[in-house]
Amino acid sequence: MNCSCMKISEMRQRPRRNRKSASIRAMVQETRLSLDQLIYPLFLVEEENAIIPIVSMPGINRWGIETMLKEITECVDLGITNFILFPAVDDAKKDTYASYSLDKDNFYLSAARRIKASFPEITLISDVAMDPYSSDGHDGLVINGEIVNDETLPILCAMAVAQAEAGFDLVGPSDMMDGRVGAIRDALDDAGYTQIGIMAYTAKYASAFYGPFRDALDSAPKLGDKKSYQMNPANVRESLIEAELDEMEGADFLMVKPALCYLDVIHVLKSNSNLPIAAYNVSGEYAMLKAAAERGWIDYKRAMPEMLLSIARAGADVILTYFAKEYAQSISES
Ligand code: PBG
Repeated sequence: MNCSCMKISEMRQRPRRNRKSASIRAMVQETRLSLDQLIYPLFLVEEENAIIPIVSMPGINRWGIETMLKEITECVDLGITNFILFPAVDDAKKDTYASYSLDKDNFYLSAARRIKASFPEITLISDVAMDPYSSDGHDGLVINGEIVNDETLPILCAMAVAQAEAGFDLVGPSDMMDGRVGAIRDALDDAGYTQIGIMAYTAKYASAFYGPFRDALDSAPKLGDKKSYQMNPANVRESLIEAELDEMEGADFLMVKPALCYLDVIHVLKSNSNLPIAAYNVSGEYAMLKAAAERGWIDYKRAMPEMLLSIARAGADVILTYFAKEYAQSISES
């Protein structure tokens, strides 16, 4: 067959040459993923020896502090160095003001102390938001059916200071209230915690992909949705407004959440900020792949690292992912 567009002899560029062997492919690989970049989310319950599977997140459990210490040991042995901790709080302890979050001896803060005492070298990240402790299930304070902004800030500040006191290395405000990064930065500095960083959930979208997480924490909003504070999935330029504010207010990391449907947002933030960019590969993204794998509809062993690599390729320096442990296992096997 004759090719009319170009004679064979004129074809000087042959991209396939750089794909011809495993060693050449590896040499020219543009994106590499290291365990150092991953953060493994862990769910904590009060009962100290608990191991409670999360049905919509196969392979992920809620742990008590005793079982969690063992889980962290396994992860550290596999090379994971960063963890983010979320509490699943009994309904009986929830109230309008999320008061339990400020109780210095609550099981979340006590666990952080134990974890940091056993593993001083790891980076432990907190969750700053009212929803795990709120009887309304919202990230901010609800007054007369409205999620109020400014009245929420002192609660978030007190929560962040309590977490710094308990030994968290970074606090992670996931609430999307306006001005919370600056308010938390001031509160931490005033309390002497100038070295505790803020991983800001900068562009957090009102996403359907948080469903399994809300099952895990039993933290779904009792009334309404989170659209008056989390971002509209249709918007990307708005993420730059959030990024500029978080940067000005003193954030140490900017986060995009979820990750896979928002790779363009990750790319835009990476191109517009010199701060490290984190991406949260959320519960629904994990659940989708697990469900397809369970049915034999997808090759999990290949699809999982492909997902993580795509998030890194889009520009994420850091990835929060429920796949972290299995990814670490797959590396240590190969
Ligand atoms: C809420 C919070 C959510 C997640 C982390 N922190 C869910 C929400 O906004 O309702 C989701 C994480 C995931 O889905 O993996 N403060």
